[in-house]
Amino acid sequence: MFSKSSTRTRVSFEVGVRELGGDVMFLSATDIQLGRGEPIADTARVLGRMVHGAIIRTFAQSDVDEFAKYSGIPTINALTDDEHPCQILADLQTIQEKLGGVEGKTVVFVGDGACNVAQSWMWAAARLGFNLRIAAPHHFQPAPALVERIGYQGIEITDDLAGAASGADVLYTESGSAWARKPSPPTASRSSPAIRSTTPSSPARNPARSSCTACPRIAAKRSTAETFEAHAQTIFDEAENRLHAQKAILSALAR
Ligand code: CP
Repeated sequence: MFSKSSTRTRVSFEVGVRELGGDVMFLSATDIQLGRGEPIADTARVLGRMVHGAIIRTFAQSDVDEFAKYSGIPTINALTDDEHPCQILADLQTIQEKLGGVEGKTVVFVGDGACNVAQSWMWAAARLGFNLRIAAPHHFQPAPALVERIGYQGIEITDDLAGAASGADVLYTESGSAWARKPSPPTASRSSPAIRSTTPSSPARNPARSSCTACPRIAAKRSTAETFEAHAQTIFDEAENRLHAQKAILSALAR
């Protein structure tokens, strides 16, 4: 059930389910009664009696949690305003392929540090024990309550955008909806120089390690054509890995 647009997530899950021998139906919010105000708990109780699992892309994290609770079937978070865990699994697979694993590595996220992707990186760092540096202007840093809840000492948060890439093994950014959904503080709008400068550009300007892998989650927007093409192999390997990672998730849930 997708309430937001998607290319990679939707297609990788649909292809993945079929390649694993299952069947899949795509439901947009406007197709079903959810779009006319049916409570998510009721939709969940109906679908839980008819299908074997659900993949949900929506706005509120609580909707995914509620669906899982009331449906009683495996429920996969395919992106909410708070989290994008499937993306991070494909990113970690890509890091495994390019750098031999994330253990002992430093991942630097430059961008909206309060967005769903950054938050999922934080959970991944705590689970797997790698170093994560989030570089964002003050108004776009992760909420202190979340940092406290995760409680992992290996997460560093900085507003030093110029120096953020120092020592990075992986340099990561996020484009798209997360910026748009944030209410813009009066002193830091999306178009302000501070925000524009958070998009990693030429690697030569970033003092990352020589083996540093740039790993932008390009959804629909490029940073610059030069930067994009310099990392196109990684970007599209990462996109392909969405399919492999989704199949791993589906397989694990089917056990
Ligand atoms: N990366 C990602 O979630 O892409 P889509 O929005 O195309 O699914």
